[in-house]
Amino acid sequence: MKKTEDSNVILTEIVFPNDTNPIGILHGGKLIQWMDTASAICSQLHSNKICVTASIDNVVFKKPILLGDIVTIKAKVTRAFNTSMEIFVEVLSKKIDDNTPLVTNTAYFTFVALDKDGKPSPIQELIPSNDIEKEEYERALLRRERRKDDIYHKKK
Ligand SMILES: CC(C)(COP(=O)(O)OP(=O)(O)OC[C@H]1O[C@@H](n2cnc3c(N)ncnc32)[C@H](O)[C@@H]1OP(=O)(O)O)[C@@H](O)C(=O)NCCC(=O)NCCS
Repeated sequence: MKKTEDSNVILTEIVFPNDTNPIGILHGGKLIQWMDTASAICSQLHSNKICVTASIDNVVFKKPILLGDIVTIKAKVTRAFNTSMEIFVEVLSKKIDDNTPLVTNTAYFTFVALDKDGKPSPIQELIPSNDIEKEEYERALLRRERRKDDIYHKKK
């Protein structure tokens, strides 16, 4: 059994010209790559196994991230199931001359742990430690049910 804090990940990046569209906004695909990297590390710290991305839902782009911004990507496990786990990712962005970070993006990633043959492999349970973590833990089950209901998830 593990706690959320055992696998929390904080990744920091800066937006370079190569990462933006023609009006200086960070490309969505680049941001998702950073979010995927942070959540992959998080899932592997929780499971101590190689993990792959199974799904990404509810990627929200609340505010644009601009050229030169400092971007912090935070990833934490909300719940571990049998071989899969849900990771919540929150992105904060700030200007170099402003100390107040803004929450710009959020998303839920599902990762599956694999064994040496590349097959889904059982993982440790997550024990939520405070009220916010307990609420996320409960809601993760509902989100999992919704995902399972998706036609493309059902299709083999
Ligand atoms: C993810 C993957 C390993 C699942 O394999 P599978 O044979 O479908 O496995 P199963 O049906 O036995 O499901 C295993 C777990 O994955 C979960 N899962 C499978 N598809 C999922 C999806 N679309 N969304 C969320 N969870 C999913 C299942 O709910 C199950 O969770 P549980 O063990 O905690 O109950 C497989 O679909 C795969 O390899 N996908 C490609 C991954 C990839 O290339 N990612 C990008 C590179 S990292």
